[in-house]
Amino acid sequence: MRTYLDNAATTPICDEAKLAMVDAMDAYGNPSSTHASGRKAKAIVESVRKDIANRLACSPSEIVFTSGGTEADNWALTCAVQDLGVRHIYTSALEHHAVGHTAEGLGSSSACEIYRVPHDADGVHDLLWLDQQLEKHAKKGEKAMVSIMHANNEVGNILDLAQVVDSCKRHGALSHSDTVQTMCHYPINLTELQLDFAACAAHKFHGPKGVGFAFIRRGIHGRPLIKGGGQERGARAGTENVVGIAGLGAAFNVAIDNMDAKAAHVRSVKAYAIDQLNQAYPQVIFNGLSAEMDKSLYTVLNFYLPSLHDNSMMTFQLDIHGIEASGGSACSSGSVQGSHVISALGKKVGTRISFSGYSQTADIDALMQALKNIESNLATIKATA
Ligand SMILES: Cc1ncc(COP(=O)(O)O)c(C=O)c1O
Repeated sequence: MRTYLDNAATTPICDEAKLAMVDAMDAYGNPSSTHASGRKAKAIVESVRKDIANRLACSPSEIVFTSGGTEADNWALTCAVQDLGVRHIYTSALEHHAVGHTAEGLGSSSACEIYRVPHDADGVHDLLWLDQQLEKHAKKGEKAMVSIMHANNEVGNILDLAQVVDSCKRHGALSHSDTVQTMCHYPINLTELQLDFAACAAHKFHGPKGVGFAFIRRGIHGRPLIKGGGQERGARAGTENVVGIAGLGAAFNVAIDNMDAKAAHVRSVKAYAIDQLNQAYPQVIFNGLSAEMDKSLYTVLNFYLPSLHDNSMMTFQLDIHGIEASGGSACSSGSVQGSHVISALGKKVGTRISFSGYSQTADIDALMQALKNIESNLATIKATA
């Protein structure tokens, strides 16, 4: 039997999304065609857009469907520099590569200056420093943008996004946040939170992979990243992924409408995991703020066990013992480079376990048993060496 504890990488597709996708397969028309079959497909796309906008308190015209979070992140930064006159981007060393590499690319083409907001050993950003920097640019009449993720996918730290957006507003800077790990897990009201750009990936909340959306506040006019036809009101070319969008819509509605009950359940599983790890391994280190329930994603726990992580390739060992977890983000797990987030914190790479509404305390029991088995295998190897 396998135990899946890698939900920050991706989640299983829920039944509601599967059903919506199967239904949408019959709506084979091209949403841009004006005949009845085209209109049927278009109706699916527009009804999902409306449902999302209702639940985020924004306008349907502010939602642009994309291939997922990476594209939405790339677009926000690229269009800010290419079309909106941004010459200074404030981001963080802890970003997902979707933002980090995009920022690096823009910086190396000398289109703009990239700055990393300082953070402490737990990954908490210095927002006062950020505010002072934005004030300096505002005084010089220079256009700036801030792009810091709402919650970190490896250690779970949650940013005070309202404070960041407030700084941006006061100093005339644009604000983008990679909301991929918080969308559908935390309430986001885009009327109250005056963020300019946000990103969503359906596969993080039981929707399909390869589909998501960008939120772009009304009044901001950037050229499309994907060029071609006039789909998505000219904002993103290419025939819409109708089946994927149908799955995204169903998963989005279920996740938001059941958010409180799911969050309470997942919090109890995470609390159990912290408790079990503390009891079995008093020397356990939790990376970032991941063990602080109110300051980190309830879906993520990142722990390091000196006795085990120093002496074994844990992700592979756990896999052999039936536990699916990761060393960092899915993009870096298995890579020899390790985790840029953990190294930026000056910590040692441990294991990230991540939960969904389907996770149970029995999954944690299975993890604890696997750790015990790995430990005893190590002791045997040591004794016979
Ligand atoms: C924080 C964060 N941003 C962006 C992405 C990329 O999203 P997608 O896989 O939809 O391109 C991910 C997914 O791994 C993520 O965790």
